[in-house]
Amino acid sequence: MAHEEEGGTIEFVWITIVAAVIAGLAASMAYYGFAKGFNPVCNATPVSVEALEAGEFKPGVEEIAPGIYRVNIVARQFSFEPSEIVLVDPKRVEFRVVSLDVIHGFQIPGTSVNSMVLPGYVGVFVWEPPEGIEGEFLILCNEYCGLGHDYMRAKVRIVSGESLLEG
Ligand code: CUA
Repeated sequence: MAHEEEGGTIEFVWITIVAAVIAGLAASMAYYGFAKGFNPVCNATPVSVEALEAGEFKPGVEEIAPGIYRVNIVARQFSFEPSEIVLVDPKRVEFRVVSLDVIHGFQIPGTSVNSMVLPGYVGVFVWEPPEGIEGEFLILCNEYCGLGHDYMRAKVRIVSGESLLEG
């Protein structure tokens, strides 16, 4: 009899601990989600298929100010448009990526650029490349999106303005 009671107490202690951990996790999710405005997705604004089809979102590279870029990218099975991005002495790059079909990924391995691309949203994220960065980098889709997923890639070339002048 004494043993059974002991077992019951230990069980109650563990149930209390597990309940406290679950309550703590739920509270922290609620806190970061509502009070802090954290979102599991990147900074994404909804966009309609009609708007995309009407050409309101134009893929391409735009230099807003010296070194400040805005890069619009359209992802679809199984390509990125534009497929080659050239940036001269980039200081700040704002990527805006949309998907025309399914969930894709947008990653530049070796950098901090890594985002999901959700259909129905313009995913916006900013990259401040490390100073002196140069060369050709791969852009990969890192979300399985179909049979051609492995071939879904693009590249970004980062060049220094000086090397262009030297010709
Ligand atoms: Cu797109 Cu995998």
